[in-house]
Amino acid sequence: MERKALYAGSFDPITNGHLNIIERAARIYDSFTVAIVVNPNKKGFFSIDERLEIVRNVTAHLPNVRVDKFSGLLADYVNENGFAAVVRGLRATTDFENEIQMAQMNARLYSGDTETIFLMTDPKYSFISSSMIKEVASLGGSVDGLVPEYVIKKIKDKLQEE
Ligand code: COA
Repeated sequence: MERKALYAGSFDPITNGHLNIIERAARIYDSFTVAIVVNPNKKGFFSIDERLEIVRNVTAHLPNVRVDKFSGLLADYVNENGFAAVVRGLRATTDFENEIQMAQMNARLYSGDTETIFLMTDPKYSFISSSMIKEVASLGGSVDGLVPEYVIKKIKDKLQEE
């Protein structure tokens, strides 16, 4: 049976920390879906379509990775698609509290035996978040090495548009 797993998030934008989790998890599962959560109450820096395009571009070298989006409950999306696992990255102990709450709530909502699997974020990326990347880049700071080159280009284009 094909082992399918999911990695969900806002990815606004995707960082090298996310990409590191995706590359490592994609080696474990037969099929790995990266899904962008559509939150109608949150105006992103990048639109959902832009994020889809960016994530597809930076994961193009990974043949078993597909990119999708969903709205509503993560558990509903999981139940509809039959994922065996939901992968989460843990950066620091501060992530743990929130993650355990989400994992336990989701466990009640899964209709099957989906497991939440935690991978430790590479220490090189443990301090970054998408918000920090946007803040530093928009104030003219360097985010080289923290996000893929393509994301740097997209952020620059976006800031020029504004
Ligand atoms: N490297 C770098 N940054 C990372 C990272 C990593 N490995 N892992 C997480 N981050 C960053 C993200 O960029 C994000 O930064 P931001 O807050 O500045 O945007 C932050 O850490 C939080 O990431 P995450 O916990 O993945 O939040 P998210 O908003 O991207 O995704 C969902 C959270 C999608 C899993 C959750 O909101 C969800 O399930 N939503 C659907 C609705 C639902 O089912 N709710 C009930 C849940 S029980």
